[in-house]
Amino acid sequence: MCGIVGIVGTEFKIDELVDDLQKLEYRGYDSAGIAYVQNGIIHITKTLGRIKNLKEKIKPVNSYVGIAHTRWATHGAPNDINAHPHTDCTGKIAIVHNGIIENYVELKEFLKENGHKFKSDTDTEVIAHLIEEYFEGDLYKAVLKAVNELKGAYAIAVMHADFPDLLVAARKGSPLVLGKAKDRLILASDVTPIIKYTKDVVFLEEGDIAVLKDGEYKITDSNGNILIRKVYHIEWDEAAAEKSGYKHFMIKEIFEEPEAIESALVGRITKEGPSLNELKEIDLENIEKIKLVACGTSYHAALVFKYFVEKYADIDIEVDVASEFRYRNINIDDRTLVIAISQSGETADTLESVRIVKKKGAKVVAISNVVGSTITRESDITVYMNAGPEIGVAATKTYVNQLVVLYLLGMNILRIKGIWNNELNRDFEFLKSSPGFFREVLQNLNIEDFASYYKNYNHFMYIGRGINYPTALEGALKLKEISYINATAYPAGELKHGPIALLDPTFPVFAIAPQGYLYEKIKSNIEESKARRARIVAVTNEGNKDLLKIVDDLIYVPKAPDDMYPLIMSPVIQMFAYLIADMRGYDPDKPRNLAKSVTVE
Ligand code: F6R
Repeated sequence: MCGIVGIVGTEFKIDELVDDLQKLEYRGYDSAGIAYVQNGIIHITKTLGRIKNLKEKIKPVNSYVGIAHTRWATHGAPNDINAHPHTDCTGKIAIVHNGIIENYVELKEFLKENGHKFKSDTDTEVIAHLIEEYFEGDLYKAVLKAVNELKGAYAIAVMHADFPDLLVAARKGSPLVLGKAKDRLILASDVTPIIKYTKDVVFLEEGDIAVLKDGEYKITDSNGNILIRKVYHIEWDEAAAEKSGYKHFMIKEIFEEPEAIESALVGRITKEGPSLNELKEIDLENIEKIKLVACGTSYHAALVFKYFVEKYADIDIEVDVASEFRYRNINIDDRTLVIAISQSGETADTLESVRIVKKKGAKVVAISNVVGSTITRESDITVYMNAGPEIGVAATKTYVNQLVVLYLLGMNILRIKGIWNNELNRDFEFLKSSPGFFREVLQNLNIEDFASYYKNYNHFMYIGRGINYPTALEGALKLKEISYINATAYPAGELKHGPIALLDPTFPVFAIAPQGYLYEKIKSNIEESKARRARIVAVTNEGNKDLLKIVDDLIYVPKAPDDMYPLIMSPVIQMFAYLIADMRGYDPDKPRNLAKSVTVE
């Protein structure tokens, strides 16, 4: 997803701006560019491809103001011309933008009629010309007038050649964060480029316009009224966002899972049991329906919650992918709880789903990893997963922490409803000790040989049953998104209704097969697959010798309560995908066509 950085303050080297932009690389992009003012002229350097190409192109100069951008194409092909920043006809106004302007065709027509000439195919360039159209010597006023005409989503940063001490920014639908450091004001799409300068940040809210000048920022609404926004203190330090010696962020982040879980559990374990203080205001006792909404990996975490909670309580639980949910007619009443899961807190479809159900009067609990992100601000309550920054595009430790938080949430609801038994107690005890179990799994997970063997296949079928079915879905997603192997997942009982036709020696099966309550069932499905001469790799619990006779390769995790296998098996499916992607020569941190934060529909 596009990334924005802007700096204004005392003289700085342009390289610094590019270094700051590099901190947003993980969001995914296809081109990059910068603009700065020197001797009253705006200079722009843009390039298709990586930021390192941009670095090679820029001159070693200084400026007092600059904006930079990583683009993920939505309107117009990825190329040098469509890369941001964009300028107006005079070349005096430069802009970077994240989001989509829905009425850009009408605006472009209007501007063309007024004599404006366009250079790119982007919706963004329209904003530059619109600001030019309204500019009468005051950049803020022109931006204010222009954004009031925009429909759609935007985060923008704007500069003017005649004002090298000024940046104007605005947000609606796409995130923008401000930081005030000693020698500069900095704005960015998220906190990552800001924390090296300051850990105190302000998240612009919907409709906010910010003026950054003379070491201070002023925020107004779209009518020009001054607003005071809360300053958030960010705990992450810069080192937390570095690779710490690992080859990739993804593997580093998998190894961070034990500490990530510890952070998710802190303060949430009491003598009485699991307790999420955040939920105090919600009448959990009377909740009868729960609707979970999420995308991708977060959706898989939601499915685990459903299997877990409905096993113990007669609560009507529904899980949907946000891009479907938002277009359905969702029935909400005062006994319905909506849970929106989004590690980034910015996913457009999930955000829109939150807005829709809130309008219908639902209480929304967000589960997110990003403090102050849009979904957290628009939901009634947020339970943070506290996984720390995740730079690899594929979700790993945030998936694990989503599971931890969802187990806690489920246990919390069950306990408040008076539902508690020995099985749940065992689950809770396991959850508390899970960091130790994760350390054990990660230490003993020697699957390089398997990965090296399986990397040569072009297809994979993941199967699981019951609460282990979401693990199959997540395993297949991880493998396909970073290794580009065609991996698909099915509830194992579905095999015989079609997908088994695919199986042969070229199509291996990855079975999620702990000795839980559906073990005998999945064992039969493994046998069925074997009969089609498919090679089988399975993950099961320690002590299970049974499968040795049937499967070709077996991976063990510690024995756990039935409900907890989705958690303890996560590092296995993640590591398997990571190793295969790396061995196939791909960069698992930056899978093609994907973005960390999907802020467009
Ligand atoms: C896969 C992955 C994506 C995200 C999805 C939702 O590894 O990361 O499938 O899970 O884009 O993102 P969030 O959780 O930020 O809403």
